[in-house]
Amino acid sequence: MKPRLGVNIDHIATLRQARGEGYPSLVDAAHIVLDAGADQITIHLREDRRHIQDYDVPAIKLVTQKFGVPLNLEMGANDEILEIALESKPEWICLVPEKREELTTEGGLNLLDDNVFKKIRICCTKLKAGIENVKISLFVESNMEILQKAKELPIDAVEIHTGDYARAFNSQDDLDIYLEDFAKAAKYMEENKIGFHAGHGLTDKSVIPLVEQGYFVEYNIGHWIICQSVFKGLDKTVASLKKNLTKGK
Ligand code: PXP
Repeated sequence: MKPRLGVNIDHIATLRQARGEGYPSLVDAAHIVLDAGADQITIHLREDRRHIQDYDVPAIKLVTQKFGVPLNLEMGANDEILEIALESKPEWICLVPEKREELTTEGGLNLLDDNVFKKIRICCTKLKAGIENVKISLFVESNMEILQKAKELPIDAVEIHTGDYARAFNSQDDLDIYLEDFAKAAKYMEENKIGFHAGHGLTDKSVIPLVEQGYFVEYNIGHWIICQSVFKGLDKTVASLKKNLTKGK
């Protein structure tokens, strides 16, 4: 089966918020991305609202509903954001660690920390009880101890933090260590019937070795797409990236 492409449109909102104007329109962006072949829209409602705003969530949900594809909401396990998630009922929720001072999500959830583990368990329980059929993924590092802890939670997938891999790819470093690690993690997740997703830092090129190995069933990509769109346009960028996702096994 060909992997799904989730397009993270946060940075369209970053541009909008930079001037506080009503453009560029996230709703238009979502239409263009889905017309170009994306399989879902991903947005991260951050606590500091630096890009996506509360009103974007229902507006984008209307677009994904029209296309019959999932809305994937990334969020920290925070009560205020949880309330918004319960109201807007996205099909997928990806729980991420969130620090206000970080530039972007800087690493996966540390499920080995008891407090983090308990907080995530409570959040998963509330989401599963409050949103019918919601699917939950946890943004984590590809680390067997963490994946074993993830398995104890009521989740549907893990999203592996691919930032270090992507940086190694861009610096032309050896990728074997990452690929072996992903292979081991993918096998473990498959044995446990938990979905295996990837996200962070990926580009049209760095995604190819992962697609060729067929490890992941879903890729969530944002920053590179929006940057490349400045030169090539959002529609062409998404369509050509989607083509790269068909180069796998
Ligand atoms: N997945 C998660 C959980 C993220 O936090 C992000 C960044 O918002 C992405 C995917 C997309 O990463 P990038 O913008 O680097 O492609």
